Amino acid sequence: MSEAKITLHDPKTGQTHELPVYHGTYGSPVIDITRLHAKTGYFTFDPGFVSTASCESRITYLDGEKGELLYRGYPIEQLAEKCSFLEVFYLLVHGELPTPEQRREVEHAITHHTLINESLLEFFKGFHYDAHPMAMLTAVVASLSAFYHDSLDINDPEHRLQTAYRLLAKLPTIAAAAYKHRVGEPFMYPRNNLSYCGNFLHMMYARPTEDYEIDPVAEQALDTLFILHADHEQNASTSTVRLAGSTGTNPYAAVAAGIAALWGPAHGGANEAVLAMLDEIGDVKNIDKFIARAKDKNDPFRLMGFGHRVYKNFDPRAKIIKRICHKVLERYGNDPRFELAMRLEEIALKDEYFIERKLYPNVDFYSGIIYSALGFPREMFTVLFAIGRAAGWIAHWLEMMDDPRRKIGRPRQLYTGPARRDVPR
Ligand code: ACO
Repeated sequence: MSEAKITLHDPKTGQTHELPVYHGTYGSPVIDITRLHAKTGYFTFDPGFVSTASCESRITYLDGEKGELLYRGYPIEQLAEKCSFLEVFYLLVHGELPTPEQRREVEHAITHHTLINESLLEFFKGFHYDAHPMAMLTAVVASLSAFYHDSLDINDPEHRLQTAYRLLAKLPTIAAAAYKHRVGEPFMYPRNNLSYCGNFLHMMYARPTEDYEIDPVAEQALDTLFILHADHEQNASTSTVRLAGSTGTNPYAAVAAGIAALWGPAHGGANEAVLAMLDEIGDVKNIDKFIARAKDKNDPFRLMGFGHRVYKNFDPRAKIIKRICHKVLERYGNDPRFELAMRLEEIALKDEYFIERKLYPNVDFYSGIIYSALGFPREMFTVLFAIGRAAGWIAHWLEMMDDPRRKIGRPRQLYTGPARRDVPR
């Protein structure tokens, strides 16, 4: 990280102030404003953090103009093709891809910690049968902190890593239990001889009354989707995990906060919203009407799965997902919504409104069609996103805990409310 200076001139006082400028490996340089208020009396104003780097990180880089995504320097396309999700988890957490021995170790550590405390299973009974699985996931993940006191010293690096592995291991178990609760089927215990995704499919779809065979196409598609969702630098949910974690709260609570943030339709909830939108459009002949609605500022409708805060070009994940979609539908039969989505993409990409604003399909545009083909109900889509993204949340929480400059996250504000006044009584 190289350092330069930028000079700020305050016309009000006539004073000049020098602020350090840092250049990272890639990306825009940043102005260090940590001493700005102390030096000048000014705060900065940046709703939505559109111009603010909230931390230094060595995990993920994305170039929104080029449509490039790198985890620890490796392009997402190569990781999706050559690695497993657990290898990518290892990479995000440890900074390097695992050796064969490290791979076996991480696979063993994760696939042998998949059981959850039996009392946690009782929690699900407290939810109404139609509770949203994201509500159950948020609550049960937060509750993990009530069960694993033995490894909750956040100042102990070994405890931190153990908790990190535990979280990733138990998430599919909790997710599948939420699904089974909704459909009223008996909970299926995890099987340690299965892969991470094979085990998840088993817990989702197996029943005690019959054999269940894991389909390698589904297992592979899910594994790649988890890789594609694993991290995306300081997105809303990851920033939430960091902000919650900055207070010193335990990682289960911090990740539960991240899950809650992911739920929103402007973030991870968009994959659910895309299918709802495709169902609502219903037919290619209605596309023009919905495109017109998306462009109408008086209509709250937006083209779900389109646009991104950082990507002003194709989201590289969307391209890979579109290819997986073809493969999965070859296996499971065509879904007319895929045709509809591709036609919608084609029309939108030629439309001046979308071109001008650089709105392209994002990661969520095609993922729901794959999940649907694999038998997941719509309400589970964001849960699947959460399992993949947990790898990134964990890596960022660990990185933050190791950062000697860690401070509690506490933004300031521009107050425009009433001036001081007395209660008229
Ligand atoms: N449909 C129609 N218009 C859109 C869309 C869309 N999907 N997205 C952005 N725009 C328009 C806005 O109306 C705005 O137009 P204006 O300049 O005329 O006012 C312009 O494009 C810029 O949009 P902002 O909302 O300012 O961009 P921002 O970076 O704040 O939002 C976001 C990004 C939230 C992703 C937005 O594009 C969106 O709502 N997309 C749909 C939801 C979605 O797919 N979310 C998933 C994101 S990826 C993820 O989280 C995994």
